[in-house]
Amino acid sequence: MADWIISRLNIHHDRSAFDCGKTVLNEWLKERAGQFDRRDLSRTFVATDPGGSIVRGYYAISSHRVVHDALPRTEAKGLPRLDVPVVLIGRLAVDLSVQGKGLGALLLIDALRRALLISNEIGVRAVEVDAIDGDALSFYEKYGFRSLLDDPGHLFLPIHEIRKLGL
Ligand SMILES: CC(C)(COP(=O)(O)OP(=O)(O)OC[C@H]1O[C@@H](n2cnc3c(N)ncnc32)[C@H](O)[C@@H]1OP(=O)(O)O)[C@@H](O)C(=O)NCCC(=O)NCCS
Repeated sequence: MADWIISRLNIHHDRSAFDCGKTVLNEWLKERAGQFDRRDLSRTFVATDPGGSIVRGYYAISSHRVVHDALPRTEAKGLPRLDVPVVLIGRLAVDLSVQGKGLGALLLIDALRRALLISNEIGVRAVEVDAIDGDALSFYEKYGFRSLLDDPGHLFLPIHEIRKLGL
């Protein structure tokens, strides 16, 4: 697996040629990621080659909540009937040129580590992900994410399970 540098998106990163095969994720990185950061709506972290500036992969992360009724019964057990605070990985994508080399997994692990750190400071019950389609869904399911009841494309993994992974 190549070495990658993961850092917060800044103006020196070159996003112009990014293509993960999903137009909506390409356009979001190029046109919206900067705006979302400036407005404190999400943070985007990008992977580059060491010493390079070309973006090969990214994820976007923000705080979110899951409505109580969307929790599967086993997950809702013992919780008050309140919405639960989560960290949302809203988008995660890898450039077609480097897909299948472990970068998607590395970005996901980096995002989960970040969520764990945040969970030491504020209450975070789980990490939620938005899967754009069936392929994305199976990628997340491979790592233990389970669908919420409101939409199978919304998946989550409890933070206590992530803590046990020893990331
Ligand atoms: C999904 C995506 C992020 C995976 O990135 P990647 O760098 O190709 O994945 P990796 O090489 O890190 O693969 C890690 C593991 O996930 C598996 N995997 C990759 N894509 C998968 C998929 N669609 N379904 C199931 N498993 C998948 C790999 O086989 C690998 O398994 P292994 O560790 O047992 O060998 C990438 O294909 C992508 O950007 N797709 C387009 C955008 C997208 O769908 N994003 C998802 C969130 S919206």
